[in-house]
This record gives sequence, structure tokens and C-alpha cells, in this order.
Amino acid sequence: MSDLNEIKLEALLDIINSSARQAIAEYKKTGHGVPSTDSSIFHPLDLIPDTLALRKAIRLLEGSYQQLSSTLAPPQHTVFNFVHNYNWACIDVVMRARIADVLDRHPDGLSVDKLADAVNLDKSRTAHVLRALSLVGCFKEVERDVFTNTRLSLILKSTNDAGCITRIHSQYFSKYAGVLYETMTDPEYARSHEVDKAPRVFAFRKDGMKGNYWEMMKNDDESRDIFHRGMIGHSEIMGASAVLHHYPWDKVSSVVDIASGIGAFSMPLAKMFPHLRITNQDLPEIMKEAQNAWQKNASESILDGHIEFVVFDLLEDVPVAGKDVYYLRNIIHNWPDAEATKILHNIRKVMGPSSRVLIHECVLFHTFQEPGVETKRSSIAPEPMLPNFGAGSYNAFQQDLTMWLAHNTKARTLDELKTIGAAAGLVLTQIHDFVDTMAIEFTIAPN
Ligand SMILES: C[S@@+](CC[C@H](N)C(=O)[O-])C[C@H]1O[C@@H](n2cnc3c(N)ncnc32)[C@H](O)[C@@H]1O
Repeated sequence: MSDLNEIKLEALLDIINSSARQAIAEYKKTGHGVPSTDSSIFHPLDLIPDTLALRKAIRLLEGSYQQLSSTLAPPQHTVFNFVHNYNWACIDVVMRARIADVLDRHPDGLSVDKLADAVNLDKSRTAHVLRALSLVGCFKEVERDVFTNTRLSLILKSTNDAGCITRIHSQYFSKYAGVLYETMTDPEYARSHEVDKAPRVFAFRKDGMKGNYWEMMKNDDESRDIFHRGMIGHSEIMGASAVLHHYPWDKVSSVVDIASGIGAFSMPLAKMFPHLRITNQDLPEIMKEAQNAWQKNASESILDGHIEFVVFDLLEDVPVAGKDVYYLRNIIHNWPDAEATKILHNIRKVMGPSSRVLIHECVLFHTFQEPGVETKRSSIAPEPMLPNFGAGSYNAFQQDLTMWLAHNTKARTLDELKTIGAAAGLVLTQIHDFVDTMAIEFTIAPN
């Protein structure tokens, strides 16, 4: 028995070793070597949209490392580590005080005295925050009380899109998460699946908050701006742009980006595949912002008539008819089953015989091997890892909780997506695995 356990640990060590080497090889392919822990600039690979091979290696590395560490470390240590973690609060301070922006102007380092003055905070408390984060490579103390940015802390600059979504989490989602148990025991909230019974609403109900997330932002220009820049950042965080490189867009003529936002997906798509006719559809205030964003960053695509912007309410209206691909990124998980089915059914009504629906978001797989759930071989971890890669699937499972906190909904399993697809008259035909997210392809179900 103990031999078998040791064999499993050795196998995990081998996975750690081989996956780390795969990741190193991906960096070296760029011709710029591997990044250094305390580098204060991005590595060229940090800025490339298609990092699928790197992400596959990191999924194995993080999953196997966590499994090995939690097997070998004392359980008291491991479990307390789960909660003894205030990185989110330290990051909240950094972002709201714009500490990374100030340090960016001092590449050789800035004393915490001057830094704290510049951001109007107490010196010793600022040092506490930065030291806690320096421990995990986010900032570096180059000499006593002198700090610089690192490749990680650059994400926390106010100009960084991934920083926008990071800030939404540190500032707001931390508050929603703080009332999770209360919502699970409150008579009004505990068993409700209404979107306005989300922990978000509970956390702010004394301030009179009601309605869904989108209604909350409707009259708040600044929040909408941060959110929509955050969606560009979210795509970088999740590696979702892999869909631009690993889906046969060259064989497609027309795409509708359903609830497109300002075009986090459709704008790079238009730039990479100028032959595509693209329709962006979203709420009126978002379509206005989308047009401004496209005018600024991709005016030639609009001017040559390939791109259109059509206001719609995805719960009430059908989208434009007869297009090749109806693409929904980060949409279905925002809605309970009844609304999600309605959205797909509205699309189904206007699909042509060869139209496809692509649902692109996090998909959950269980920690045990489910009989009958077929998936691509690359989506199953090697033994003795948990079949769903364990901590390598961290993002998908946290995203599931994020959906609960904000919308009272969830990320779905493949079977759950199949079921709502079937209820709308669609059948699953293909799965595209992009590691943190998947694009699940549906066509019209045969009668
Ligand atoms: C999570 S964002 C995803 C945006 C984009 N697909 C992406 O991945 O970057 C959800 C989008 O749904 C839109 N939305 C919410 N309610 C809607 C409705 N009733 N009708 C149309 N769009 C809606 C929001 O305005 C927002 O742009």
C-alpha cells in the first residue's frame, strides 16, 4: 500500500518536471529565453494572444504541484493556508491607491516614504502590504524599504485591462463572498434562483440595490467602462483569445457576437479575418460605447461596411437571421436555466440549416471520471492527478462561484449545457478545449 502511494508521488513529481519543461520550451520558442521572477518588464510571451500550449503545461503543473504539496504538507498547514490569505485585500489597496502606477515611474525603486506620500497612505502600513505581496513575486523590495514593480505587479497598473477585472474582484466580489453563508440561510435568498437574489444584492441591500448586474451598471458610466475594459482583461486572463487561432474562421463568412460588449472578441476577430461580416448585438448603452471603441481602434472595419451594431435584448428579441456562427462568450453562465434556454431558443429561431452556435465559457468537469461524459483526450489529466486536473482547473471553479456571487447562477457541466441546448432545439457537435475555457459547438437538432 505504502509503495503504491510512493509510486503516485513519484508520478506527480514526473508530471511537475515534464510540464515545467514544456512551459520553459514555450518561452524559449520566442527567442527571448525564460522570464525572471523579478523582471520588471513583460516577457514577449505575456503579450501574445495564443498561449494555448503554455496554458496546457501550466494546468498540469498547478494541478500536480498542489496535489503533491497537499499530500506531503501537514493538513493543518494546508487548510489554514486556504483561508489565511489576504492577497486580495493587499491588491485592493495597491489598485485603489494606484501604487503600481507610481512605481512605474521609478524603475530603479522608490523608498516607501516617498511612495506612501505620493499615494497619501501611512508609510509602515504601505510597507506591510507590499512585503506581503513581494513574497509571491508581486513587487520586489530591492533594498530595505525600497520597492520596484515586477512583471506581476505591472498587471495592477490602472491602465491594464486584466487589472480592471482584478480590481472588480478585490473591491466588490470580496464583499459579496463575505455574505455567502448568510444568503444560504436567509429565507428569501436560500433557495431562490432569481438573479436579483444573488449575494451581490444581499451585500448591498441596505443601500437599496436591486435588479440584475447590468441594470446596476446602466447609469454608472465609470463602472461600465471598467467592466468592459475588464472583459478584455478577462479574455487575457483566461486565454480565451485562443479561439481566434484554433477555430476555422477562414471557412466562415458571417458571425453574430451575441451580447458582444464593446467587442473584446469581435474586434480582434475582425482584424485577423477581414473577410468576415460581423454583427455586434448588445443593450443600447453598450452598442453606443462599442461604436465609439470601434471608431477609435478599428474605424477601417466599420467604414468598409463589414461590421454592424444592432441593439437587442437577448431575452426578448431574436438576433439577426441566417448567419453562419452565433457566438456567445461569457453569456450563458450569467443566466439561470430558464433564461439561458430562452436565449438559445431565440437564436434557434433565426438559424439557417448550416448555422452553428458557439458557447464559449468555463465548463466544469467533476473530480471523478464520469461514465458516459465524452470529451477530448487532452481534457483528461494523467493519473494520479484528479481527472479534471484538480487545482489546474482552479479558474473554472472560481468562475462558477463568481457567477453565483454576481448573478445567482453558475458555470455548467457539459451535460448541463447539452440539456439546455436540447431544450432549445440544438445538439452538441464539437468541443474546443482552450484550457480555462471551452467553446462548445451546437447545430440544429434533427427532428
Ligand atoms: C459578461 S459580459 C460578456 C461580454 C462579451 N461577450 C465578452 O465576452 O467580452 C455580458 C454581456 O451581456 C450583455 N447583456 C446583459 N443583459 C443583456 C440583455 N438583456 N440583452 C442584451 N445583452 C445583454 C451585457 O451588456 C454584457 O455586454
